[in-house]
Amino acid sequence: MTIEPTALPIPAGLAAPGTAGAPFQRVAALADLPPGTMLRVTFGELDLLLAHTPLGLAATDDRCPHMSAPLSIGRLDGCEVECPLHNGRFDLAGGGTVRFPTTGGLDPDGGYHPPWSPPDSPPKPEPSDQKARARALTRVRRFRYYPVRIVGETIEVALPE
Ligand code: FES
Repeated sequence: MTIEPTALPIPAGLAAPGTAGAPFQRVAALADLPPGTMLRVTFGELDLLLAHTPLGLAATDDRCPHMSAPLSIGRLDGCEVECPLHNGRFDLAGGGTVRFPTTGGLDPDGGYHPPWSPPDSPPKPEPSDQKARARALTRVRRFRYYPVRIVGETIEVALPE
């Protein structure tokens, strides 16, 4: 039995600004986004991440909620995407952080998370220089989503005008 792809529901309050009532535009062919893959598509200055998760297709900014690295070159594991820059892991189904970036920093609600090291790396001390302070004050935000629909063999996304 073939399961028809659907759009992942947008978590409450996490629609990207300007997308309510925005026109849908073709962004990719469905064949370009097989299950378990991600794709970056660009419209002007807007870089979108398209992800085909087990719960459906999602479209967000192709910018890590931490320091804007392109998630499209990271790793998709079920509904979780792992950032290639600081190992942060984010849940596309809910919009939140699953694993905080190695740098530490602030979560969306302002709570502080210390730096950590992956198991195969030496421990990271709590830093004190200005660069480290900037990292500590960097807030990891929640995803913002763009409405997605599948029309025949095409993926369409509502893009702000
Ligand atoms: S930029 Fe993605 S975890 Fe830091």
